[in-house]
Amino acid sequence: MCGIVGSINHNNIVPDLLAGLSNIEYRGYDSAGIAVIDNDGLTTIKRPGKLEQLKQELANQALRSHTGIGHTRWATHGCPNEANAHPHSNDDVSVVHNGIIENYLQLRQWLTAEGFRFQSDTDTEVIPHLISLFLEQGQAPQQALNTALQHLEGAFAIGVLFRKEQDHLYAARRGSPLVLGQSDQGLCLGSDTMALAPGIDRILYLDEGEQACMTRDSFQLLDLNGRAIKRDMQAYTSQQDDQSKQNHKFYMHKEIHQQSDTVRNTFKHTQHLLPELPVDFTRLDRINIIACGTSHYAAMVAKYWFEQIARIPVDIDVASEFRYRSPLLSRNGLSIFISQSGETADTLAALRYTKALGQKTLSIVNVAQSTIARESDFSLQTQAGPEIGVASTKAFTAQLAILASLAIHAADRCKAIQIQESNRLLMEIAALPSLIDMTLELEPHFQLIGESIKDSHNAFFIGRGSNFPLALEGALKLKEISYLHAEGFGAGELKHGPIALIESGVPVFVIAPNDGLLEKTLSNMEEVMARGGRCIVLGDHHSCGNLPLEVESITLPACDKVFAPIIYAIALQLIAYHAALAIGTDVDQPRNLAKSVTVE
Ligand code: M6R
Repeated sequence: MCGIVGSINHNNIVPDLLAGLSNIEYRGYDSAGIAVIDNDGLTTIKRPGKLEQLKQELANQALRSHTGIGHTRWATHGCPNEANAHPHSNDDVSVVHNGIIENYLQLRQWLTAEGFRFQSDTDTEVIPHLISLFLEQGQAPQQALNTALQHLEGAFAIGVLFRKEQDHLYAARRGSPLVLGQSDQGLCLGSDTMALAPGIDRILYLDEGEQACMTRDSFQLLDLNGRAIKRDMQAYTSQQDDQSKQNHKFYMHKEIHQQSDTVRNTFKHTQHLLPELPVDFTRLDRINIIACGTSHYAAMVAKYWFEQIARIPVDIDVASEFRYRSPLLSRNGLSIFISQSGETADTLAALRYTKALGQKTLSIVNVAQSTIARESDFSLQTQAGPEIGVASTKAFTAQLAILASLAIHAADRCKAIQIQESNRLLMEIAALPSLIDMTLELEPHFQLIGESIKDSHNAFFIGRGSNFPLALEGALKLKEISYLHAEGFGAGELKHGPIALIESGVPVFVIAPNDGLLEKTLSNMEEVMARGGRCIVLGDHHSCGNLPLEVESITLPACDKVFAPIIYAIALQLIAYHAALAIGTDVDQPRNLAKSVTVE
């Protein structure tokens, strides 16, 4: 989703702005721009489409400055064109903005009546004009910004330049994250740490409602009411090395192949932390797990684990629906929030709602300093490293590694299983990385299947038990990156309606480990085949051993049935990846999607 960069330092900041924008391309965007300030005033250059268009434009200009802001926009209000791209500037003020200004229509009317002319359809453009209005009324820049902020409703993060203040860069945060960075060269601003200028060794996350005023050498923080507050930067080591594709064509492919390490590291890290986790599982009578998208599917898998292994009842919610159903939360309950980015607006809103009801909260995030991590009572971090591909892969299996460990830990504490069984399950998790490697070695088979469905109009995924959510995840992965229409179903549910969609040759992926439900899943497969569907079974040697000859199958390594979703996820990711590759889509930045969904 939208990304912010900003920089103020002793050197020319244009290369830093472009480097920051390149690093946050992964968030998903449809236009990009920068604004800089120098003796001639504000210069704003923006282009629709990929960052490359902006870079080409800048290559023709000798633009140099010590102070600037930049933005990648993911369209919300107004289509992706040059006028709607950020920064939005007038003669005196330039603004980049993430989030949504909910009262922009009223503000626009007011400002139009005051004589301001709008060039775009965005909600953002009210901000520079509002600030200018207060400048015209004689307020100093900092004060004008502060007054303007009082008039804005909604969630936002902004970076601001003033024509008359070449040596200042301003920022403000309400609802959307912003981080400041510092190096010996100067200060910078980003919507996440990846947006920060190279070489920074200190960072500071703005807290809710805070503003910052930066010069080349220092910064000042202000609270919601404009009063100065004191907080120091923290030491920071950049993870720039992780950002290369190495020998992979796409980040998604690299990330799929990292999963034996990321699952191993996450499991070890979690095992180390669990004894200290301040949650008394023996007193819990219910767990709520709340998340969006792929993280929601991880939650659905975890429901099976918590209920079957620890015997604790679990409710699962899509975060965007959670608080609107006025949920009845148990007084002795725990709410778990899963989010790769730790910034998903709906998940964050659900977390805040739950906290306000007095419920204990635990988050599982991949970004340690994210808002969800910081605002939850406790947080466990997946050790997946930066996930750049928009389609979540390694973060998903790392979430599952934490959730599996947590379910076993809860079962231990509640004495729901014998110690021998819990040790056996832990050994099974510890064995997963080598099974993941074995699954990755099957890539040529997944590639053939993926390529073979590239011309299909529809594809279906079916599974039972904890592989039902995996069927949903397999379908999501395929539609996200290949744009093929795909749906996942509980295998037994097919005949209650979706089977009407089965016609000759339509691919149906049957997730079928030998898990006690195999016979039933294979019966559902027969129902599909009887209607001409093309079944592709993903199973182990047992399930694939006795299939009818006409059924295609790929034999995955045998694994404990409890943790099969972690292994089968790899197969589904690779099938989706190769289908997308054959179709020729932009796998890492699929159309319309954003990595970090910071609006509701
Ligand atoms: O960062 P989060 O885990 O909170 O994101 C939730 C979803 O937006 C995310 O999982 C989305 O569905 C991915 N594109 C899936 O690949």
